[in-house]
Amino acid sequence: MNEVRVGIVGLGRLGRTHAINLAQNVPGAKLVAACSFVEDELEYAKRELGVTETYKSFEEMAASPNLDAVCIVSPSGYHPEQIRLAMEKGLHVFSEKPIGLDIEDIEKTMEVIKAHPDQVFQLGFMRRYDESYQYAKKMVDEGQLGELTVVRCYGIDPSSGLESFVNFARNSNSGGLFSDMSIHDIDLVRWFTKKEVSRVWAMGKNAAYPELDELNELETGAAMMQLEDKTMAILVAGRNAAHGYHVETELIGTKGMLRVAAAPEKNLVTVFDENGAVRPTSQNFPERFSDAFVHEMKEFISCIKEKRQPEVGAIDGLQSTKVAIACQQSVEANQIVEVK
Ligand code: NAI
Repeated sequence: MNEVRVGIVGLGRLGRTHAINLAQNVPGAKLVAACSFVEDELEYAKRELGVTETYKSFEEMAASPNLDAVCIVSPSGYHPEQIRLAMEKGLHVFSEKPIGLDIEDIEKTMEVIKAHPDQVFQLGFMRRYDESYQYAKKMVDEGQLGELTVVRCYGIDPSSGLESFVNFARNSNSGGLFSDMSIHDIDLVRWFTKKEVSRVWAMGKNAAYPELDELNELETGAAMMQLEDKTMAILVAGRNAAHGYHVETELIGTKGMLRVAAAPEKNLVTVFDENGAVRPTSQNFPERFSDAFVHEMKEFISCIKEKRQPEVGAIDGLQSTKVAIACQQSVEANQIVEVK
């Protein structure tokens, strides 16, 4: 296969980044089709990205004879149905996280994925493809931190992103703070420890944006987790970081500890002015993870060409969603929830 011909569904906050990468930054990929409800987005894809086929219906796009693969960046609730449809059409599938919002729906989807072992399925846990996380993972796997005892994760969106989040959550179900945001941290906890989460205690508070109450969304949530081997994990997720996009991870082991992005620095610049010594910070996910988004898509295309499956697949989606749902249930019931 010379070029992998890809169709993308969703050209919104993240879809545009994946579309640009597939059209311009991933050798061996060709973005031929795009699907969105928004006419302007389809016009943009034709004009700027050289897309030749545009659709308002995913089903119609998946039926195109000119595709080898799809990239699913639609709202989270659509993922399972679109994954199944594409798999059944013989297409390779990259899907954004979360894999779905409902466990039964995800399990049904996993059956379809399993029934098509020669098609690649990859889930968008892009942090695993970030250079700093890969560096940390290598240290952990080599035993340099000893046995892990605590993992602490912060995933806090910038206050400046609130308006676009409110639109996103109005248009479709985000799945709630833990399925939408903490899912990346839950995946990291599982990735670093190679263990599953057995019980969670989560809580939340809306102080900065009471309007989120109307959407049944949390502004800030926190969770304490126990893993199957008694390793502890602590998560903080939120939508109100005044300084930018704060994604930080700490690993504490018996021989040492490390932090990834203890301060979410944008680059190596320090500004000295009337505010003191100021380190500019990352402002949003496309900026912080721009390389990781390219690396994960290169991996997807390589897997298709080399006929192999990527490291991050459907089971990672299922397990992390189970934990995220348990966190949401724990907030609602105000009690510890076992993850089954
Ligand atoms: P968005 O609301 O900005 O854009 C949604 C896009 O999907 C629009 O182009 C819309 O026209 C299209 N769409 C909606 N329903 C559709 C349907 N049934 N058929 C075809 N097209 C449809 O959404 P956003 O923020 O880009 O999120 C999309 C997905 O990406 C979500 O699942 C979200 O969880 C995930 N995401 C992942 C991030 C990461 O860090 N990996 C960051 C942001 C979003």
